[in-house]
Amino acid sequence: MSTITWGILGSAAIARICVIPAIQASRNGRVHAIASRSIDRAQELAAEHNIPHAYDDYEAVLADPAIDAVYIPLPNHLHHPWTLRALAAGKHVLCEKPLALNAAEAQAMADAAQAAQRLLMEGFMYRFHPRSQHIKQLIKAGDIGHLRLIKTAFTFNLSDPDNSRYRPEMGGGALMDTGCYGVSLARWLLDAEPIAVQAQAIYSDSGVDLTFVGTMHFEGGTLAVAEASLVSALQQTYTIVGSEGVIELPHDAFIPWEKEAVFTRRDVEAESGTLHRLPGADEYRLMAEHFADAVLGHTPLAFDPAESVRNMRVMDALAQAAAER
Ligand SMILES: NC(=O)c1ccc[n+]([C@@H]2O[C@H](COP(=O)([O-])OP(=O)(O)OC[C@H]3O[C@@H](n4cnc5c(N)ncnc54)[C@H](OP(=O)(O)O)[C@@H]3O)[C@@H](O)[C@H]2O)c1
Repeated sequence: MSTITWGILGSAAIARICVIPAIQASRNGRVHAIASRSIDRAQELAAEHNIPHAYDDYEAVLADPAIDAVYIPLPNHLHHPWTLRALAAGKHVLCEKPLALNAAEAQAMADAAQAAQRLLMEGFMYRFHPRSQHIKQLIKAGDIGHLRLIKTAFTFNLSDPDNSRYRPEMGGGALMDTGCYGVSLARWLLDAEPIAVQAQAIYSDSGVDLTFVGTMHFEGGTLAVAEASLVSALQQTYTIVGSEGVIELPHDAFIPWEKEAVFTRRDVEAESGTLHRLPGADEYRLMAEHFADAVLGHTPLAFDPAESVRNMRVMDALAQAAAER
């Protein structure tokens, strides 16, 4: 077997714009069915993306024996229940970030995947972009020396008051939505877990964090700062400061689309850096292809659910630190 069949739960923007086209363009996957709470929406998307089956019920995707893997781009509070159902139905699951509402839910999902002998991966697509891989290799090779600071800013101004990101009961908030990238990036680059965290947040009347700043302290003398906001001008940047140099992504740090991907590298004493350019790539397609390869048994899964549990543990600690200040 050289391809897998996918089912999609819901008509999320991320599925419509990025992940369905990515799977359809992948070398080893095809979308077999999409379900929406509205059959009209499901049929419309099926027609638009050349998907053979449209259902009005997510359960119908899980019951379809032709489907190997399910992509779950539902609001955050639905990641845990629908992942458990999909795994129980024998499907492999690629679930959107953040994997769950907290580490306890994520652990239950990891346990369910193991019990079902099915794969589960969180959709942190940025790790599959060749630029991310290249930067990680530079760091591991000591190109900028000992890492001192990792500064991430992922902020935007979300005008839709009904969006799930503004709803605490749906797992909303800036930390959950974009702060999770800053946590993931620091842990991924360092291959380590923070030993202490601190955080501050500005909350909405409904109780979601609108703006969040978290700091993470890693053994060996590295600090990481993650900025996230739902009510601020766009920033999608990160800066990695080492003892011997700096790597900076001035824009599109996590979602460069298929544009040329750039970063700058600056030497220890230099005021300005050299711009490096990498060809564009579809990180969603690369993620979907990797997941399909793993389902087919061609490669081990690059990021197992235990990795996501550890990410959620740090997010839990950051959320608690902000709430307790
Ligand atoms: N990796 C990335 O680049 C990226 C980017 C954006 C978002 N995300 C993640 O993807 C997930 C979806 O985000 P999104 O902004 O794309 O979602 P969205 O456009 O708001 O769509 C969510 C979908 O979930 C379904 N749904 C089921 N129950 C719902 C409920 N009670 N309320 C609202 N929708 C419900 C709806 O589909 P039907 O009505 O058709 O069933 C809806 O279209 C989130 O976990 C988010 O963190 C990831």
